[in-house]
Amino acid sequence: MSTLIKGADLVGRGRGDVLVRDGRVVETGTVSAPAGASVVDADGLVLLPGLVDLHAHLREPGREDAETVLTGTRAAAKGGYTAVCAMANSYPVADTAGVVEQVAALGRAAAHADVQPLGAVSVGLAGERLAEIGAMADSAARVRMFSDDGHCVSDPRLMRRALEYVKTFGGLIAQHAEEPRLTEGAQMNEGAVSAELGLPGWPSVAEEAIVARDVLLAEYVGARIHFCHVSTARSVEIIGEAKARGVRVTAEVCPHHLLLTDERARTYDPVFKVNPPLRTADDVAALRGALAEGVVDAVATDHAPHPPQDKDCEWPAARPGMLGLETALSITVAALGGPDACDWDMVAERTSRAPARIAGLDAHGRDPEPGAEANFTLVDPARTWTVAPSELASRSRNTPYAGLELPVTVQATFLRGRATVLDGELAPVAPPAPRTRADAGLVAEEIE
Ligand code: NCD
Repeated sequence: MSTLIKGADLVGRGRGDVLVRDGRVVETGTVSAPAGASVVDADGLVLLPGLVDLHAHLREPGREDAETVLTGTRAAAKGGYTAVCAMANSYPVADTAGVVEQVAALGRAAAHADVQPLGAVSVGLAGERLAEIGAMADSAARVRMFSDDGHCVSDPRLMRRALEYVKTFGGLIAQHAEEPRLTEGAQMNEGAVSAELGLPGWPSVAEEAIVARDVLLAEYVGARIHFCHVSTARSVEIIGEAKARGVRVTAEVCPHHLLLTDERARTYDPVFKVNPPLRTADDVAALRGALAEGVVDAVATDHAPHPPQDKDCEWPAARPGMLGLETALSITVAALGGPDACDWDMVAERTSRAPARIAGLDAHGRDPEPGAEANFTLVDPARTWTVAPSELASRSRNTPYAGLELPVTVQATFLRGRATVLDGELAPVAPPAPRTRADAGLVAEEIE
C-alpha cells in the first residue's frame, strides 16, 4: 500500500513530495503518484517528524477512570504524536518487568502511537529500594529510561546507585527534581502571589537544589541524567553550566511552563494546579530562551489526566496536573512567537528529534529520508482551533486552555505510513494481530 504526500513544506528542505510504501519512505522530491496510491494534498502544510513525548501519564493500569492507554494514545495522535513515553506512577507502579510489559502490550493493541514505558527507579516510588531495573531493561518492553516522577528520588545514595546501574546498559534516570523537605504542604509557587493568597509556597530552590545535586552526581558517576519538567530560571542556568562542562545532562520543559504564570492561581481554579507549579514571568522568559538555545533539549507534555472528583474541588484538595497531549504543539508554537515567527526546524528538533534521541526511539524523530519509518505529522500553520474540552480524545477534561483559540492545527498523523489522524479527525485504526501472549490477553487469563 502506498501513500503520496504531495507538496508539503519539508522543513528546511523546501517544498516536496514524500512517497511511503509498507510503512517506510521510499522517495522524496518531486514524485508522481504510482498506480493505486492514495494521495494526500499537503499544499500549505508543514511536515514534521512525528512528535515524541518523553513524559505522559497514561494512568493504566489502575486509574482507567482518568485515562487508558487507548484514550491517551488517541489524544497523542490528535496532538501529532507518534510515540509516547508512559510514566511509571500507575497502580500498580511500573516497577517490575510484568507491569512495563503490560503497558507496552496495551500500547501495541491500541495502535494509535508507539508506547514506551518508563520503569520506576524505586520500589513503589517509595524512594527506599531500587526497583527491578535490570529485569525491566531486559524485558520485552526494553526499558531504558527510569523515573519516580510524581516523586523525587531525594535520597542521594539511592540516586547514585541508580545512576551507576543504568550506566551499565546505556540507560538514564529522569528526575522529578523536588526536594521534599522544602515543599511540604506546598500548593503553588512560593512568591508574591502565594503570599497574597495565603497559600503555602513551593520554592524554586526546591527544584534547583536537586538539579544542582544530581548534575554533580551524574558527573561523578559518568552517567546520563535527564530532568523532567524544569520550571525555573536558575534550573536552566545550572543545566547550561553543566552542559558546558560536558556533563551528560538533558532536560525537558512543559508547554504550560512556557505560557502560564502563577498569576493564574488567583482564580483558585484547580485546573491551574500542577507540579512543579506555574512560576513567574521571569521564569517563563528564561525557559523560552533556554528552549530556543537548546539548553533545554525537548518539549514534554507531562500530560496528567484527572477525573472530575480529583479536580472539581477546592484548590488544596485538588490533585496537581493538567492535560497536555492535544494542545502541546499549539502552545509551544504560541510561546515561540506564533506560526509566522517560529522556526519549524527548531520545533521539529525540540518536539521530535531530540526527545527520540533521549529516549532511544531510533525509528522516531526521523526526517523523511528513503528507508526511514514513515512517522510524520502534517500541520496547518495558518489554521487556528478552539479548545472544546468535550471534544478532546482524552478521557479527562482538565485542560487549562478551555475556550481558547490556539494557533496551528494538526491535520494528519502517520504511524508507519498509516494515518491515525486525517483531516484533523481520528482515523479508524485496526489493531494489529496479536504477536505475543501478553498481546492476546493470555497473561491476564493465566493470572486469573
Ligand atoms: C503528575 C500526575 O498527576 O501524575 N502531576 C503533575 O502535576 N505533574 C505527577 C506529579 O508530578 O505530581
